[in-house]
Amino acid sequence: MTHHVTLLSGDWIGPECASAVQRIIAAAGVDIHWEEHILSQGTIGSELLDSCHKSGVILKARTASKPSVGLLPPTIQLRKKLGLWATVRPVKALMGVEARFPETDVVVIRETSEDIYSGFEHELTDGVFEAIKITTSTACERIARYGYEYAKANGRKKVTIVHKSNIMKKSDGMFLRIAKKVASEYPDIETEEVIVDALCMKLVRWPQSFDVLLTLNLFGDIVSDLCSGLAGGITASPSASYGDNIAMFECLHGKAPELVGTGKANPIPLLKASLMMLTHLGEVSATNRIQAAIESALASGVRTADLGGDQGCEDMTSAIIAGL
Ligand code: IPM
Ligand code: MG
Repeated sequence: MTHHVTLLSGDWIGPECASAVQRIIAAAGVDIHWEEHILSQGTIGSELLDSCHKSGVILKARTASKPSVGLLPPTIQLRKKLGLWATVRPVKALMGVEARFPETDVVVIRETSEDIYSGFEHELTDGVFEAIKITTSTACERIARYGYEYAKANGRKKVTIVHKSNIMKKSDGMFLRIAKKVASEYPDIETEEVIVDALCMKLVRWPQSFDVLLTLNLFGDIVSDLCSGLAGGITASPSASYGDNIAMFECLHGKAPELVGTGKANPIPLLKASLMMLTHLGEVSATNRIQAAIESALASGVRTADLGGDQGCEDMTSAIIAGL
């Protein structure tokens, strides 16, 4: 069967990683018709949006966001335009990758339709800015239910509700209240609540004591990077954002300008995102085979710069294809 996927191959090291991932997926025998589009700063074209809606599945490599007044980064604009409200980031160290806490196994569930990412930021008077955090009961209930359903479907035992309701008493207070109400419908799943700053301290001491972290947009952004750092960095966590009948898969790493054009990028972060995509497409056996091939490439000692080695994208890609 041929799957249709919209590919946003991005900027900087994005295109190099995207073409490596396309080759690996083809080598695993999965037939994908890739519709390639360019996501850039400015208005997001209707052709790109039509393709995303039609395929319903998007793979997005690292995309440039240039600071320009009044515009949110293209990734955020796209999440908004496609209505991608639930972002899931499973964080787990790859076998063979050095990590501070190799036993970390957490999933960050991040609400991505509102909060401080709504883009309402303005100058009130000279030297005074206001940035507005939007929190609605509908979005809080939707993400809380999503988080508990995710936990139930994936055999997760505990959900930690992450908030800052001691300061944002009304907005985060409502999120906490709603999430606890939803929690009461899932008596088999343990629930705890932790204020975000305390969570950060606990995470860097005992990450193994956390399971699913349920939170709003800004804290989810920060906490997911923290978790990835604990589990070995950019190879630890892919990201999937879901809306109604649409899903976008992406990697979390930065732009790595020093690697552009050197052939030294690591394709594994985008490849891990594509594994979430393949599972979503029902290609479970290919997912498992590629995962095993990644582990065997790492076991054979292939290491890109971010993993402390001096091999490149091509070395990693061909080692994974050889493993397949
Ligand atoms: C992420 C990223 C984005 C975000 C950036 C690229 C706009 O950090 O997906 O976590 O802030 O959500
Ligand atoms: Mg982030």
